[in-house]
Amino acid sequence: MPTVVSVQGESPARAREAAEQLALEFGSYQDTVGLVLVVGETSAWLELDGVKVAAQFDSAAMQHRRKGGHNEMLGRAVGLKADQKPLIWDATGGLGRDAFILADLGCQVTLCERVPVLAWLLDQAVKAAAVSGTDQVREAAARMVVLAADSKTLRAPTDTVIYLDPMFPERKKAAAVKKEAAMLQHLADRVDDSASLWQWAWDQPVERIVVKRPLRAPILGHIRPAHTLKGKSVRFDVFTRRLEHSV
Ligand SMILES: C[S@@+](CC[C@H](N)C(=O)[O-])C[C@H]1O[C@@H](n2cnc3c(N)ncnc32)[C@H](O)[C@@H]1O
Repeated sequence: MPTVVSVQGESPARAREAAEQLALEFGSYQDTVGLVLVVGETSAWLELDGVKVAAQFDSAAMQHRRKGGHNEMLGRAVGLKADQKPLIWDATGGLGRDAFILADLGCQVTLCERVPVLAWLLDQAVKAAAVSGTDQVREAAARMVVLAADSKTLRAPTDTVIYLDPMFPERKKAAAVKKEAAMLQHLADRVDDSASLWQWAWDQPVERIVVKRPLRAPILGHIRPAHTLKGKSVRFDVFTRRLEHSV
């Protein structure tokens, strides 16, 4: 578990509050080795061996991603149409990047994240985005809700589309992406629950489940997707079915 430290030269009040809320130790940046949650007055990130990971929706990287072709594919995968903005149940919140894209496309998104420190970062990022100077970022943030929980303990509402992006398996990747994935896996205790998560999703009363997978990874679960949308490095497997109204 990370130790919480404050940003040098800034008030430690928010960092101490985070440590208390997450029941984590509070330390000083200089004296702490290993994973730290660095909390400033208006910023927060996880840091391990010089690699920083943050949930931030107002960043240049996110602005860039909002304009990418990936978004169009993600939107199509969840069934987004000009007159149809599905409600999304993102069962693997992570750093909220896919969720933010979907919220930016007009969907109401509930994000569920089981690692408390990631759920905290997500919640802070949504709160920061809610007071962004950019109208579009504020509007997207207003469509996002964060739940700190294991998705498998909850029931997804009938009218939602379940979105799953389980932990990526180890693959050849750019060094920075690899380090970020390693940090997320470290936090999740390397527990890959994608198979049981899929089963949970299939047991929910929803008509559409979208699973993000590395392009060449095997299908999650035992059912063939209704269709697949392929990008350069990832694909979206789309599972659809009709449910009785009484469900
Ligand atoms: C690959 S990341 C998701 C990245 C996310 N789509 C994004 O755009 O930032 C997978 C995340 O799912 C979370 N996760 C895995 N199983 C979960 C579960 N059963 N309930 C909630 N979160 C889960 C992990 O802790 C991890 O943060």
